[in-house]
Amino acid sequence: MKPDLSLLLTILTSVEVALPLEYCPTHCLCDSDIYSVSCFGAKYMPVFHSSTREVWLIGTNLPFIPQNAFANLANISRIYISDDDTLNYLERHSFHNLSSVTHIQLTGLKTLSYIDQEAFKDLHNLKYLGITNTGLTSFPGLQNIQSNQEDFILEIVENIFIQVIPANSFTGISENSLTIMLNSNGVKEIQRYAFNGSSLEEVYLHRNLHLERIDEFAFYGVIHGPTHLDLSETQVTSLPSIGMETIEKLQAENTWALKVLPPFQAFLHLQSAELTFPSHCCGLKMLKGWRGDSEAVICNLTRSVLGKLRESSSVLSQRYSGHRIYQHLKGGFGLPVASSTNGNHHNNKPFCPTQQSQNEGLVYAELQTDHLTEGFDFALCNEPPTDGLVCTPLPDALNPCEDVMNQGFLRVLVWVVSLLAISANLLVMFILLTSQQKLSVTRFLMGNLAFADFCMGMYLLLIACVDLYTRSHYYHYAIAWQTGSGCNLAGTLSVFASELSVYTLTLISLQRWHAISYAMRPDKKIRLRYAAVLMLVGWLLCLILALLPVVGVSSYQRVSICLPMDTETIAARAYVVFVLMANVIAFIVVCVCYFHIYCMVHNPQHQSSRSDTSMAKRMAVLIFTNFLCLAPICFSGLSAAFHHPLMTVTDSKV
Ligand SMILES: *[C@@H]1O[C@H](CO)[C@@H](O)[C@H](O)[C@H]1NC(C)=O
Ligand SMILES: *[C@@H]1O[C@H](CO)[C@@H](O)[C@H](O)[C@H]1NC(C)=O
Ligand SMILES: *[C@@H]1O[C@H](CO)[C@@H](O)[C@H](O)[C@H]1NC(C)=O
Ligand SMILES: *[C@@H]1O[C@H](CO)[C@@H](O)[C@H](O)[C@H]1NC(C)=O
Repeated sequence: MKPDLSLLLTILTSVEVALPLEYCPTHCLCDSDIYSVSCFGAKYMPVFHSSTREVWLIGTNLPFIPQNAFANLANISRIYISDDDTLNYLERHSFHNLSSVTHIQLTGLKTLSYIDQEAFKDLHNLKYLGITNTGLTSFPGLQNIQSNQEDFILEIVENIFIQVIPANSFTGISENSLTIMLNSNGVKEIQRYAFNGSSLEEVYLHRNLHLERIDEFAFYGVIHGPTHLDLSETQVTSLPSIGMETIEKLQAENTWALKVLPPFQAFLHLQSAELTFPSHCCGLKMLKGWRGDSEAVICNLTRSVLGKLRESSSVLSQRYSGHRIYQHLKGGFGLPVASSTNGNHHNNKPFCPTQQSQNEGLVYAELQTDHLTEGFDFALCNEPPTDGLVCTPLPDALNPCEDVMNQGFLRVLVWVVSLLAISANLLVMFILLTSQQKLSVTRFLMGNLAFADFCMGMYLLLIACVDLYTRSHYYHYAIAWQTGSGCNLAGTLSVFASELSVYTLTLISLQRWHAISYAMRPDKKIRLRYAAVLMLVGWLLCLILALLPVVGVSSYQRVSICLPMDTETIAARAYVVFVLMANVIAFIVVCVCYFHIYCMVHNPQHQSSRSDTSMAKRMAVLIFTNFLCLAPICFSGLSAAFHHPLMTVTDSKV
């Protein structure tokens, strides 16, 4: 098959010289104004007129692209091949030595599985190469293109079988900077030195849904750039710290696995970031401050050194005329220009006085900031301070850039309250369990309440411990904590404890009210078994409520203190509103009970035992203090539910 076609082609191409100007291949439409030929459904490579400038091969059934297929077309500049169902491979020199070609696009070639290492060779004017939606299983070798055009765009997208981007994939494509679009491929890994030897402008890797690993050295050996990196909708877990210093725009939206960013110092020139987690923006805001400070210090130092230099500039201009630093300073500050003048603003060598100059006392600035000057762009000293670092999503009321507990007294309070709650309630439970007295309904309910409050104490202790551990660096741990199981545990504990507490308090009030209303009717006393059943129902309800956010209705992951404040979906909002309404209703029930009890006790016609009354008073105090503790949590939740944070998390913690 293959030799036959080649033969046919050779025959056809040899007769081509004699083709008339109006010649148009079969199955093709020719537009002689723009020398464009569009062919549909051809089974072999048509023979084009030598003046053809644009070739469209659509819905063809070519077995392969033969050697030098377009070599006789001196002025060919654009080649498009799309929707071929049989094209298997591109031979060596398929696209070779086409000096006028600027655009090559291969689209929708489901069967294309192999591209020869030298299929694209010596295309010096190529500006755009697109390989889209093919069956390629490995990254094509493009090292022989050797374009010398500015702003080369390489678009290799929707190739779902390409899993790896190997080393040196982009060397030799262009001697100038490249824009690389690698979206929506099946890429899982970007290997070491993948971008070695290339000069990068923008690199798009978004929607590589399986991309997990970018080697730490992937950008090692890059000549320049990248300035823009897009990793949205990938699974990358970490960014390399090497090669980030040139990035001005970083996109990583919906990149949920990227929980930790490299040290901020890696992003020397970052201007804008579109990220997934607000707490990363906290870190980047810090970077801005850091960059500002270090810049000020270095620029100041440079200036003071410069002052000294000015004084002895005549001496220096002779002695250090070839010295790189001196050139910096001249270039940067317009010092009177001496003999050699190729001042280089962007030289990244650390600014460091030589031993000799120190000995001579000419330059004695102490550079404790040596490590900061690594990769420092001295041209920045002349620029007005830029505070244009734009970062989204911005930290909001629910995710502020602050520690779990940001106020000192709050820290202390949480420790005191949690320890107190745990020890006191343990004591209560211990006494109730070991007491010789017969278990009464009241004591049973008290035991449950003590347990609920004990859980609350545990929750507070957990939060306090996390706060202690992540102190002043919370934004660094935020994602690990909030998306981890710790937060789920804490959230479950808090919701379970608070709801069980409210439920038990309501039961206690109802029981008090019942006891006083029917004080003279022993037959109407609440049985222990009845109370136990009610408590069991309560436990189950509270457990369900507490576990719902874990299984996806609302979420504990939104805030640092792990409360269900996620109100993104309707179900989540319904959940939050339900919990809050339940609490409000419980509160109203309790209030009504006590109001009624109050009326009864102050009504002389009503007989009630003294002990019942005093018990009711004590319970009232207990219940209202308990409600007081829970109220703030309800409030903040309620406000979150209506998307109008009336108070921030900061307040709700208080
Ligand atoms: C290629 O283009 C040039 C200038 O546009 C023209 O003079 C020349 O004849 C063209 N070559 C062919 C083979 O048509
Ligand atoms: C490349 O094409 C030019 C004309 O466009 C020709 O002179 C040269 O010999 C070709 N080189 C190779 C290696 O085919
Ligand atoms: C990186 O690229 C350069 C040329 O661009 C090459 O000499 C060197 O071997 C490459 N390094 C690796 C590790 O492949
Ligand atoms: C810069 O140096 C001057 C004295 O030389 C000092 O007063 C000033 O505070 C310094 N500024 C910074 C930002 O270091």
